[in-house]
Amino acid sequence: MRTPLIAGNWKMYKTETEAVDTVRRLASAVADVSAVEVMVAPPFTALSAVARAAEGTVVRVGAQNLFWEAEGAFTGEIAPGMLTALGCTYVIIGHSERRQYFGETDDTVNRRVGAALSAGLKPVLCVGETEAQREAGDTFSVLDKQVEIGLQGVSLKNPGDLVVAYEPVWAIGTGKTATSGQAQEVHLHLRQRLAGRFGTETAEAVRILYGGSVKPGNAPELMGMPDIDGALVGGASLDADTFSRIVRF
Ligand code: PGA
Repeated sequence: MRTPLIAGNWKMYKTETEAVDTVRRLASAVADVSAVEVMVAPPFTALSAVARAAEGTVVRVGAQNLFWEAEGAFTGEIAPGMLTALGCTYVIIGHSERRQYFGETDDTVNRRVGAALSAGLKPVLCVGETEAQREAGDTFSVLDKQVEIGLQGVSLKNPGDLVVAYEPVWAIGTGKTATSGQAQEVHLHLRQRLAGRFGTETAEAVRILYGGSVKPGNAPELMGMPDIDGALVGGASLDADTFSRIVRF
């Protein structure tokens, strides 16, 4: 069985002090939770302090991006080994904001996924269609390309290491959520693509998260869908109490 993962993407919010305060509150609010994995991805500047504060708690820590080289003259970039050295478990890769504002492509996403896995980090590969693509009936073809190129050449020693996050771009930060039916349809499709790529057994073990305006109010219905294995939460993860209510969906 897949253990659900509820992940908080703190984006470019919170100083180190604020992030540590939030993770402490969160860790105590979810201390008794064992059936669900909890992860937060703070900004890089807070990663070290948050990782220390989360040590010994049920909260796992992730980064919001990484670069694929191990080291070198790459000003402003962060290497996979730097993240593992901090105690990071996960890394979000290819979030639509990275694709939209920072030139991320399926090819660079693919290099990052490979580098993450090689370093022992679990990638959370984000995919999703824009509103225009959905309206044009291109949702599945867009997602297929993102998954196919994003996972090119990737081999999985442990299927639990790969997490895919379906985040319809039109639902991120907009208050619009895919209906549970719309999301389930896409998740099932993605799992079938993963089965074609890695085999059924592996595809059944990969967690596919839903992201896009997840809140305590809509989490239970979304998480009740058979192929939705958790959530990637932006805005509603910034407050420890609100986020803990999603964790307890
Ligand atoms: P949101 O963001 O929950 O604020 O819509 C989700 C995400 O971008 O991962």
